[in-house]
Amino acid sequence: MPANGGNVSSETFQPDWVHRSLQSVWHPCTQMQHHEHIPLVSLARGQGAWLFDHEGRRLLDAVSSWWVNLFGHANPRINHALKQQLDQLEHAMLAGFTHEPVVLLSERLGALTGNHLGHCFYASDGASAVEIALKMSFHFWRNSGHPEKCEFVCLRGSYHGETLGALAVTDVALFRDAYGPLLGQAHVVMSPDARQNVPEGNVVQAALNEVEALFQQRADRIASIIVEPLVQCATGMAMYEPSYLAGLRKLCDRYHVHLIADEIAVGCGRTGTFFACEQAEIWPDYICLSKGISGGYLPLSLVMTTNEIYSAFYSDELTRGFLHSHSYTGNPLACRAALATLDIFEQDNVLQGNLVKADQLSQALAPVKAHPRVKHFRRQGMIWAFDVEFNDPVAASQFSRQFFSVALLNGLLIRPIGTTVYLMPPYILSDTEIAFLANGVHAVLHQVLS
Ligand SMILES: Cc1ncc(COP(=O)(O)O)c(C=O)c1O
Repeated sequence: MPANGGNVSSETFQPDWVHRSLQSVWHPCTQMQHHEHIPLVSLARGQGAWLFDHEGRRLLDAVSSWWVNLFGHANPRINHALKQQLDQLEHAMLAGFTHEPVVLLSERLGALTGNHLGHCFYASDGASAVEIALKMSFHFWRNSGHPEKCEFVCLRGSYHGETLGALAVTDVALFRDAYGPLLGQAHVVMSPDARQNVPEGNVVQAALNEVEALFQQRADRIASIIVEPLVQCATGMAMYEPSYLAGLRKLCDRYHVHLIADEIAVGCGRTGTFFACEQAEIWPDYICLSKGISGGYLPLSLVMTTNEIYSAFYSDELTRGFLHSHSYTGNPLACRAALATLDIFEQDNVLQGNLVKADQLSQALAPVKAHPRVKHFRRQGMIWAFDVEFNDPVAASQFSRQFFSVALLNGLLIRPIGTTVYLMPPYILSDTEIAFLANGVHAVLHQVLS
């Protein structure tokens, strides 16, 4: 995930934990030298939508802690489920063994796809799920007599994680350039990002035409195309029409290429439906899930796939099997947190409730939308984003850090991506919290730009 270096205000400086952390912890996605000038925030606890530092100051977690938290920190229902599971089974290997939480979770997730994707393969982090989907797709074609189908396609601005396979299908220069010599080559095709103007006038069609041109030339070598359905988050919340996914599904069927939906960031209700692909009324060949699936509690990721793909591995030959594993695959605690998360979705009718909350927050953000420097104010489900215009490139390059620091002083955790400000709050904001967030964004924007 992109970071802006963890800039914070001097008031949140916590000498002891911060000093010890800087001595011993190598922080993710950070140029550690920045912390010579920029203190870390030392967190003591979380409650609901709020994080509290060691001085008791609170921050509204408007980015759900890297997009993972759905129902608040220290959620009593998820806590309860985890405490019970802890006394039953904390972990066991999943090869040769199974357990209730992993079975129930697989069944429930499969059912959410109408059992189109009824086979779940587990891992821990999002990037691992992407690696699995890529390997599985290649191996499917190999098992099906097409070992030559070993190439992958991704979208301009795509982000699929930081491990080498996932980075090879990531198109964010900041993350991939240093490792270029280590990475496999992927085909990068036009993003359907709705902000673009294209001569043809129809962005979706232009993007699909580019995919089709590539497939016409090379589909016999291509295993799969991987996309972030509806929102390319890490590149700056680039949003696009569901019709792109529907068109892509048709092209993949016509040219015999797998469609991988990386729903790691956009799954679990984030775009308004449980799976983002539902809005295009299609099912991909693979769905990668992580982040929100455990409610933001524990590392859990999985790849869901079809019976056709599963069957291509089912054989009396060992090496036709999918011999991939991670030690914590299908961890019972993580699966139990995921089951508790699914319970909340069902019992609280969360997707319906989010429609109301989304309307409220959108209305409350009207003054932000109307700001003369704000462009492309956009929303998809529970994701809001807007771009801030700059004439001065230096000011533009400093914006993200400044906004982040000033937001902290206003009690908000918001980390813009470049000049794009986005909100991805947990789904439990109260009316007061919605007002606090919207007023805070407006105030921070005003303070940073004036
Ligand atoms: C779409 C997408 N795919 C994959 C990943 C990687 O997930 P993880 O950071 O858990 O490895 C991310 C992380 O932000 C993501 O947004």
